[in-house]
Amino acid sequence: MQKGLFITFEGTDGSGKTTQLNLIKEYLENKGFDCVVTREPGALDFGKKIRDILLNSDENISDNAEMFLFLADRAQHIDKFIKPALNDGKIVLCDRHVDSTLAYQGYGRNRDVEMLRKLNNIAVSGVIPDLTLLFDVSEENAAKRLDRVKDRMELSGKEFYNAVRRGYLLLQKEEPQRIKLIDANNSINIVYNISKELIDELISRKSGE
Ligand SMILES: Nc1ncnc2c1ncn2[C@@H]1O[C@H](COP(=O)(O)OP(=O)(O)O)[C@@H](O)[C@H]1O
Ligand SMILES: [Mg+2]
Repeated sequence: MQKGLFITFEGTDGSGKTTQLNLIKEYLENKGFDCVVTREPGALDFGKKIRDILLNSDENISDNAEMFLFLADRAQHIDKFIKPALNDGKIVLCDRHVDSTLAYQGYGRNRDVEMLRKLNNIAVSGVIPDLTLLFDVSEENAAKRLDRVKDRMELSGKEFYNAVRRGYLLLQKEEPQRIKLIDANNSINIVYNISKELIDELISRKSGE
């Protein structure tokens, strides 16, 4: 039986996922909740090696290789970290998860989304986010925010960015109960207030069950 809460943070690079995740962690800890922060890819040592290959490889990584590397990281992460934390009653805040695979590999790289869903299902073995916050931001705003050295994924260009963004929006329309759309073009504080409200709602719903 899962006692904790699994909350994922999704959106394109520069949408503010990490910023909001850190704010929400502080918010929940101040309220006395036991919270853990994690991310995909690359939370565990196993995953760090995978992340390094994915983001920094000089070799041209094939689409299939990329897909299997992400999924391998996810399977290990779920089994060895997320599931045990949820069983301990923790709130798990995860930076990117199953929807990233569907948005990036599926809609971004034009792979079969239904096939990816099936592979995701194998990797997560029944662990589904209780809530997913989707931060949606325009390509222009994201580009303005990302002035640091761009990694391989971020170098893929505007067209790819917009395909991923559209993919995320489609996913949200299919699962509006789980995935909540947040206009992340707004200020950090406005986005934070919306995120807090959605998380408070989830906590009160779950504690009433
Ligand atoms: N709502 C916002 N408005 C303006 N700048 C933001 C906003 N959210 C985040 N940023 C800034 O944009 C950059 C990327 O944010 P980050 O949280 O790392 O995004 P992500 O994790 O989605 O890639 C950071 O410098 C952050 O301070
Ligand atoms: Mg981030």
